[in-house]
Amino acid sequence: MVILFFIITASFLVSVQTKELVLPRMLINTEECTLNPCEVLKLMSQYFLIVHAASRPQQEKPDQEKAAPFVVEMSFEKRLRQAERRLQAVEQPVWKLREGVKAEWNHCTEGMCRCIPDTKSFICWNAHLKSIPSTQIIPMDIVNIDISGNQLETLHKDTFRGLTHLHELDLSNNKINFLPFDLLEDLDSLVQLRLQSNELDELHPQIFFKLRNLNLLDISKNSLVLLPNVIFHNNPKLTVINLSDNKLEELDIGFFREQTELEELDLSRNEIQRLKVDCFKNLLKLKILDLSKNQISNISDNTFMDLVNLEILKLHNNKIVNISNYLFANQTQLVFLDLTMNKISRIESHAFTSLTNVQELLLGQNSLSSIPVGLFLKLEKLKRLMLFSNNLATLDSNSFIGLKNLKHLLLNNNILKNFAIDVFRPLQKLEKLRIDSNKLQSLPTGCLEHLPKLVAVKLEKNPWHCDCRALYLARWLRASPHKLWDGQAVCRGPGDLGGVDVGLLRYDDLCEGQWASMLSLSPRLPFYHGEFVWRNYNV
Ligand SMILES: *[C@@H]1O[C@H](CO)[C@@H](O)[C@H](O)[C@H]1NC(C)=O
Ligand SMILES: *[C@@H]1O[C@H](CO)[C@@H](O)[C@H](O)[C@H]1NC(C)=O
Ligand SMILES: *[C@@H]1O[C@H](CO)[C@@H](O)[C@H](O)[C@H]1NC(C)=O
Ligand SMILES: *[C@@H]1O[C@H](CO)[C@@H](O)[C@H](O)[C@H]1NC(C)=O
Repeated sequence: MVILFFIITASFLVSVQTKELVLPRMLINTEECTLNPCEVLKLMSQYFLIVHAASRPQQEKPDQEKAAPFVVEMSFEKRLRQAERRLQAVEQPVWKLREGVKAEWNHCTEGMCRCIPDTKSFICWNAHLKSIPSTQIIPMDIVNIDISGNQLETLHKDTFRGLTHLHELDLSNNKINFLPFDLLEDLDSLVQLRLQSNELDELHPQIFFKLRNLNLLDISKNSLVLLPNVIFHNNPKLTVINLSDNKLEELDIGFFREQTELEELDLSRNEIQRLKVDCFKNLLKLKILDLSKNQISNISDNTFMDLVNLEILKLHNNKIVNISNYLFANQTQLVFLDLTMNKISRIESHAFTSLTNVQELLLGQNSLSSIPVGLFLKLEKLKRLMLFSNNLATLDSNSFIGLKNLKHLLLNNNILKNFAIDVFRPLQKLEKLRIDSNKLQSLPTGCLEHLPKLVAVKLEKNPWHCDCRALYLARWLRASPHKLWDGQAVCRGPGDLGGVDVGLLRYDDLCEGQWASMLSLSPRLPFYHGEFVWRNYNV
């Protein structure tokens, strides 16, 4: 009878909506129906709601409905799909939950999967399960359940009923698209919950409400678009949350309000455009924040204000344009900052002043055309600075002041034409320098001297002009052949010197040859006003 009613309702729904709808499988295959009357009643009222919503004009929705908590605007199709999934969950078999005694553990090991009484674990990894094995005995003092890597689409709400000792639950790598809101209700002891690599596109606001001891939650690689802003409000012990690789567009204000113990938050590979003010409020213990591969263009000044213990911040592959003086003002513990692949064209000159512990600063693949005076002044611990693939045309004497411990400086793929003779002087620990793929025709005489740790310089793919101005480069190459990193520095010209390795040319070739006369040479000899002493190269 009931089933018949469903079929009638469902076909009515199909006729109401012209779009094609998929009927729940159970409506067609009725032989194995296990619905209890209560569940049927709930589902019926659900269907009535849907029908009611569908027959009501869209714009008529009362305002208070929007304001009500947890009410998310839902299309007719979405509601129907939700009800279908609920039906499917109700239909799922439940394994046999038994008292946690030795005999039951012995029965547990007789099942199709690995059951380990010593560690109170049940492991059914990669077993092609389409549903929970209904004959399996699960003792209720079980500590660890791993049913990852199967074909599960959903679970019955009673699957984990009464498992108050469960510490770890791994449901990853299945096809789960729906979790009943009370599925995890008894798991008071749960510490780790893995749901990554499933097909979840929504979660009930209260799904995690009873998990007061939850420490690690991985929901990466699902299809979540929107998370209710209360979803983590009862999980004060979370230290790791992974939401990477979903379709999240924004995070609401106060989203992580209760996560005062959070240390690691992965929000990479989503579609976040805007970070609401205060969305990271209270995360005083956060150490690692990954926001890479989103669409973030504009971050307001106090977004990271509470993240006073942040050590790693990944913001690469976004659309950030400006970095203000205040954005990183409280990040004194930051060690690693990745801003690669944004659209940064403007950095205010005190933007990095607080980053006194930063060791790696990645600014490659942006649109910087100059380095503001004193930008790196306080970065005494910086070891690696990436500035490749920007629009830098020149560098002046104080561009790198403060970088006492810098080891690697990457300036390749810019449009550098020249730079101040002493630009690298502050870099007493510099080991590797890339200035290849620029527009350099010559190097300022003496610019690579007094760098006691220098071991490798990459110079190729510059239009080196082999007249007397190339003398310094030619002599440096001969004196330090072992410091040339990879490809040769090759003359672009003039005339038949084009294609010649700069390091092979001597004074006569560069300054007295047939091309030298075409140039006004001033000055011909190395010239430097400071304490710089010209080395005696063998010409
Ligand atoms: C989050 O999940 C993604 C994909 O599953 C993984 O690559 C990444 O390492 C995880 N992040 C953290 C912080 O565990
Ligand atoms: C950036 O965000 C701030 C604060 O949310 C806003 O006032 C400003 O207009 C935004 N700027 C752009 C270019 O979107
Ligand atoms: C970046 O800064 C410039 C100059 O202050 C401003 O005009 C522009 O709107 C800013 N862009 C964003 C996205 O904040
Ligand atoms: C963080 O920065 C704000 C101003 O940007 C300041 O008022 C606050 O005291 C700082 N907090 C800490 C813990 O340093």
